[in-house]
Amino acid sequence: MNAPRITAIGSGKGGTGKTLIAVSLAHALAHEGERVLLCDADLGLSNAAVHLGLDDGGNLPAVMRGACAVADAIVPVLGGAGKRGGFDLLSAPAGSGALANSSQEDARRLLIALSGADNYDRILLDLGAGVDNTTMMFAAAADEAVLVMTPDPSALTDAYAFTKLLNRADSTRLPLVLVNVALSEGEAQKTFDALAATARAFLKCAPDYLGGVPRDPKANDAVRRQCHLLTLYPQAPASRAIEGVARALHDHMPQKPSPVLRASMR
Ligand SMILES: Nc1ncnc2c1ncn2[C@@H]1O[C@H](COP(=O)(O)OP(=O)(O)OP(=O)(O)O)[C@@H](O)[C@H]1O
Ligand SMILES: [Mg+2]
Repeated sequence: MNAPRITAIGSGKGGTGKTLIAVSLAHALAHEGERVLLCDADLGLSNAAVHLGLDDGGNLPAVMRGACAVADAIVPVLGGAGKRGGFDLLSAPAGSGALANSSQEDARRLLIALSGADNYDRILLDLGAGVDNTTMMFAAAADEAVLVMTPDPSALTDAYAFTKLLNRADSTRLPLVLVNVALSEGEAQKTFDALAATARAFLKCAPDYLGGVPRDPKANDAVRRQCHLLTLYPQAPASRAIEGVARALHDHMPQKPSPVLRASMR
């Protein structure tokens, strides 16, 4: 079996919509046929389970201690990974603060456990706000990092900090940029252009644009009702945009070896 593709979702600035995007991408990628695990890597303030309206988000602390296998620590969502639109969640109990003081060693142990979870095609890491060492270690260890920014000027400076630190960890690495809560596609593009221009000026390279997700009251409503946006409002502009982003990510997924090639590798 192939190792899962790990996609980290970060932002620098808090509250840009990382968790909403991560949960909705998990759902949309599962619809594309991927077996998806959503891992709540916001170690200070896990809340993916709250977004999903679940009492139990799984036992991430035990995986980080090395006391439990991923398979024994997940919670199935919408039927679980492998079911159409279903995926698995690995999180800590919401509100417990159980992982607030996790060490880099714990985080490394988690990454090793996730890399070995080859029953998944994709693992989405919902990162915490900020650019602390552990958050950037997750972003750098992932196969790709999606940077969720907004048109807010402070989101631009924080997005640049995230981009710079990722690029500093590995000079070949740049994030894929998603602009959330944009008022129009033009505003999303302009926001991305400002980040790309700053990166070009100071880093001599620019990140790629993944797409824009509009400001949409339906997105806020789904979060407040702790329901999946894509189930509740499949036709909402934010849902359609996130599905487009999921298709773009899915199309970049390296193809699994064909059965013939796999047989020849045995
Ligand atoms: N496209 C959107 N349209 C309208 N509201 C949105 C959109 N995306 C996110 N929001 C709202 O923004 C708020 C923050 O979203 P979310 O919790 O996903 O952000 P976050 O980046 O994960 O935050 P944190 O940094 O605290 O982890 C939520 O109330 C959510 O409803
Ligand atoms: Mg969050």
